[in-house]
Amino acid sequence: MNILGIETSCDETAASVITDQMKILSNIVLSQDEIHSPYGGIVPELASRNHVLSINYILEKSLDKAHIPIHNIDLISVTQGPGLIGSLLIGLSFAKGLAYTLEKPLIPIDHLEAHIHSAFIENKNIQFPVLALLVSGGHTSLYLMRKKMDAVLLGKTRDDAAGEALDKIAKFLDIGYPGGPVIEKLSQGGNTQEFDFSLPKMSDQSLDFSFSGLKTAALRHIKKNELNKKSPGLKDFLASFEHSVVNALISNLKKAASRHFPESLILCGGVARNKRLRDHFTKLAEEKGFHPYIPAPEFCTDNAAMVAALALEKHRRGEKGKLSLDLNAYARSPH
Ligand code: KG4
Ligand code: ZN
Repeated sequence: MNILGIETSCDETAASVITDQMKILSNIVLSQDEIHSPYGGIVPELASRNHVLSINYILEKSLDKAHIPIHNIDLISVTQGPGLIGSLLIGLSFAKGLAYTLEKPLIPIDHLEAHIHSAFIENKNIQFPVLALLVSGGHTSLYLMRKKMDAVLLGKTRDDAAGEALDKIAKFLDIGYPGGPVIEKLSQGGNTQEFDFSLPKMSDQSLDFSFSGLKTAALRHIKKNELNKKSPGLKDFLASFEHSVVNALISNLKKAASRHFPESLILCGGVARNKRLRDHFTKLAEEKGFHPYIPAPEFCTDNAAMVAALALEKHRRGEKGKLSLDLNAYARSPH
């Protein structure tokens, strides 16, 4: 059996073919970074227009790479939400059209569940309970999983997502988009203690995150010290800022771990590509004796393999998938 995944929730147009043995035959991602870069952030209208232009090509590339003709696809899956509504509707409408024409079942997939499930692509035997930290450009959330596909939300950001905070600081300094990887590169070797950003203050009970305070402190520092992309102190400033974002994430994860006694920890989402975050996450797991799981970088940022992988898991659990032409996209998480 071959499963097709389609993902267009944000600014990546992606398609993937996997087998029912969880073998990834193709995982094609077309990034729109260059298109949005001059604006320092995603322009939703441009994102959906470019999905329209690329989606058929990306599907063809994905089938070619997999050496699977389209009539050998047995199940179609697509991201239903959350995300940019215009972008989601392109992928969803395209998938509905395909399912209707090919007379194949269609399984809609939640983007956040797919990110969490990305950790299971390469790891079949993750031990539960699991604490999963999802860190992306749109979301920063912490989940407790007592079993597979059963994520209970413990905390989420009250304002900016971690990736969003990195992107906004990069935009302000005009150093490139997306900001996360640019800051990672420019901060290499920088002094993380040069600037002292205090951690967000939350009540003892809360496992929520907040990044707007950190972001505002960073912006104030940039203005006060007239920092720009040519300043000699930029490297240390970025290293300190990235370090503070990582610290805020890891200290909350630590707090959750002391309450929920997990066997394993999962780190997923686009920001999980960040080396400093990966290192701190692994260190925490080692210190406390948890099993750490971080997907390979290509499964961290938005991709369609995680969509197809979650559809396979749902199919194994008896979800048939049906073609419902009134299936609609959702911009915000219903959970
Ligand atoms: O998961 P993702 O591709 O899209 C969303 O669902 O949001 O995540 C995109 C985010 C962006 O904010 C980007 O700056 C961040 O992931 N990101 C990184 C790195 N690579 C991507 N942040 C820090 N370090 C990286 N290496
Ligand atoms: Zn995502």
